[in-house]
Amino acid sequence: MSLEKRRVVLGVTGGIAAFKACSLVSRLRKWGVQVNVIMTKNATQFVAPLSFESLSNQPVVTDTFARPETWEVEHIALAKAAEVFVIAPATANIIAKLACGIADDMLSTTALATRAPLLIAPAMNTNMWTAAATQRNVEILKSRGARFIGPEGGFLACGDEGAGRMSEPEDITEAVRRLLEQRADLQGLRVVVTAGATRERLDPVRFLSNDSSGKMGFALAEAARDRGAQVTLICGATTAARPGGVTIVDVESTCDLRDALLAEGAGADIVIQAAAPADYRFETVYSQKLKKQDGEPLTLRLVENPDAAAALGAAKRPGQTFVGFAAETQALTENAAKKLAKKNLDLIVANDVTQPGAGFNTDTNIVTLLTRTDRESLPIQPKREVAERILDKVISLRAAQGEA
Ligand code: PMT
Repeated sequence: MSLEKRRVVLGVTGGIAAFKACSLVSRLRKWGVQVNVIMTKNATQFVAPLSFESLSNQPVVTDTFARPETWEVEHIALAKAAEVFVIAPATANIIAKLACGIADDMLSTTALATRAPLLIAPAMNTNMWTAAATQRNVEILKSRGARFIGPEGGFLACGDEGAGRMSEPEDITEAVRRLLEQRADLQGLRVVVTAGATRERLDPVRFLSNDSSGKMGFALAEAARDRGAQVTLICGATTAARPGGVTIVDVESTCDLRDALLAEGAGADIVIQAAAPADYRFETVYSQKLKKQDGEPLTLRLVENPDAAAALGAAKRPGQTFVGFAAETQALTENAAKKLAKKNLDLIVANDVTQPGAGFNTDTNIVTLLTRTDRESLPIQPKREVAERILDKVISLRAAQGEA
């Protein structure tokens, strides 16, 4: 995809990594991207605005030369023009200001006004990065949909060692390219995603569950959100950071999940079920903590839970696309094909959860995509990439069915 004449606004804040931002500008310019740079006053202490002006071939906006009467127009114009808004390097100060909505200089004012995807490349002393306040601010920004790249670990300019180095310009440029190339092919569609583990209570302090972290479902919810969908995430117990910009419905048990899925899935265009619901629940749920049996064996009876995916599949309407997952430890594609048919799915994503780098609580996955007519095995890749490939497949299935 040509990036000629696409618009990126780059905010540069005060840190030694500001000099690396020069290389970011020249890399983007090589692709034909128009880059408008906004520098904070502190950033100009590290790199002269003229460097960015020469590299970007555009006037650089700085607070040093602020002309208050033109601010209003200028910051709104840049905020609107930006297709991607990058801040590199981003200090703890700008991260805190963005989290609180403080707009007291050109960069923070423009960043508050923009609706473009925000990519933040932090660079700071490692103790500042790990400080509770900074981490909280990062979580707030992530929950609003901001993307972070880095920081990386290593030796820092202050002499300390640890996380705090700005990511390399080539990696930031790649992240910008991905954001510019992001498709809006799910615009106007309602997507429901399930994620995480369900829990079946035995008593007030114990439950039956599994190792699902929510990472796979969250990656799908984020990818669908970024492709323009209106996303509802039905979320069991999870350990990963929750995505922002989506509606979250919390559930505990498999029966709760089934109820939420039937309620939310009925009006959805696409439903993707990455959750790991417990197949069984305790026949008796105790209201008080179960006591030890004085050395006697304790026998607990389990009863089968409803199959939420099958219940939804039975009510499928024309125009809906349902995707399930199959977590297998043997006979991967045979078992997955049976689930595809039984649950009335259009696509099933089979993962062998015994493979290193696949399945529960990993950052990567190794999957085979099965439809009623074909199958495709994908190599190991980050869960976000797996999510993109699943969405690509959903789009092509819908196109074949005549759905946009
Ligand atoms: O969350 P992560 O740590 O990232 O891990 C990801 C994952 C391993 C949980 C994910 O990749 C995955 O495989 N999810 C499906 C887990 C599962 O329950 O598989 P299953 O083969 O038992 O179920 C098949 C399908 O039916 C699934 O879509 C499941 O959501 C659904 N199901 C299962 C049982 C049940 N009672 N109701 C259901 O709806």
